[in-house]
Amino acid sequence: MASDATTRRPLDGRRILLGITGSIAAYKAAVLCRLLKTAGADVRVVMTPLAKQFITPLTMATLSKNPILVEFFDPENGAWNSHVALGEWADCYLIAPATANTLAKMATGVADNLLLTTYLSARCPVVVAPAMDLDMYAHEATQQNLRTLAARGVRIVEPEEGELASGLQGKGRMAEPDRIAAFVGGLLDEKKKTLAGKRLIVTAGATIEAIDPVRFISNHSSGKMGYAIAGELAARGAAVTLVTGRTSLPTPAGVERVDVLSAAEMYEAAVGAFDASDGAVMCAAVADYTPAHVSDTKIKKGDGGLTIELRRTRDIAAELGARKGDRVLVGFALETDDEEAHAEAKLTKKNFDFIVLNSLRDPGAGFRGDTNKVTLIDRAGREELPLMSKREVAARIADKLETILK
Ligand code: C5P
Repeated sequence: MASDATTRRPLDGRRILLGITGSIAAYKAAVLCRLLKTAGADVRVVMTPLAKQFITPLTMATLSKNPILVEFFDPENGAWNSHVALGEWADCYLIAPATANTLAKMATGVADNLLLTTYLSARCPVVVAPAMDLDMYAHEATQQNLRTLAARGVRIVEPEEGELASGLQGKGRMAEPDRIAAFVGGLLDEKKKTLAGKRLIVTAGATIEAIDPVRFISNHSSGKMGYAIAGELAARGAAVTLVTGRTSLPTPAGVERVDVLSAAEMYEAAVGAFDASDGAVMCAAVADYTPAHVSDTKIKKGDGGLTIELRRTRDIAAELGARKGDRVLVGFALETDDEEAHAEAKLTKKNFDFIVLNSLRDPGAGFRGDTNKVTLIDRAGREELPLMSKREVAARIADKLETILK
């Protein structure tokens, strides 16, 4: 179901990696997966080999609508299941149920299955929902492992008291799926609000410069990168004004959208909103030249060639850079040659705090696609990021922007 501001669900757009280990409570992971999906989350599932004895990969694949990951590589075709990519993809790694064995391995850094290697490389918040017999749970070894994990920032959804699979009564039953789902929702909400109270502008998409009532000059920008950034900043609680050229993209939830056509209109909208803002991300592909005269009527073709006189447009980013004060300003550079030198020159010239360089030479980077490969450059140095989705790039840009705003 498409979601907009009115139909927004609590976990819309959130990516949850659900880890399942070999406990009888694994059957509850099916309900948990459904709850997360119904709340709007994109769910991927990684299972330990033993977990497959408790709940089938088919069940979890059907509920999560994604293939299940168990092995380091697919034995059929050798395709590698990258634990690094999984960890990067997730907004939250939820291991439910988490057995005493898996908790012990997590605490000591054992990496003998995909679920564990993913834990070791994950940068997102990690949540565990322990499930085991009461004596195993109470054992000092388990308790110490839980303390170690908690001290490292792992969040624990405490098990509940009640009847256990062994028939005994006590603490060790995995928390009910609705409690776990609510915990994850709350955690992601906390994460989201890191930009609450901030007002940010994002420019996105291509501008359109009219030649006559029919023709125009424009470029290939799809707006996807800028829209992903606007969505990410809004999801983190910022009040976002998205000044956008023409695109076919839906407005990200919670974003105020201002539609413009030409570079001149984008200039007015962005400069007008800048004083009252905490900063701007300049993602738009703005025309550098516009026809010096726009014909009121359709230009008729003749036998010879046609020359259209162009004049420079105003540089919106440079104007904001001159008025910047202590606001944050992020720019983009799309280069085809001598990339880093050109990007560094723009960083200084336009007074950006940092600039996001994409090179058209990199496969998977640039226009239209859903992935991008960028280098973040500031005055202190460069950080080259691997190929990732535009959403992930947006999250990295938002992370860096947050550290500057603080
Ligand atoms: O100089 P160049 O166009 O390569 O600079 C790219 C950066 O400047 C981008 O952040 C782009 O959004 C911004 N820009 C702008 N107004 C212009 C031209 C570029 O805001 N007229």
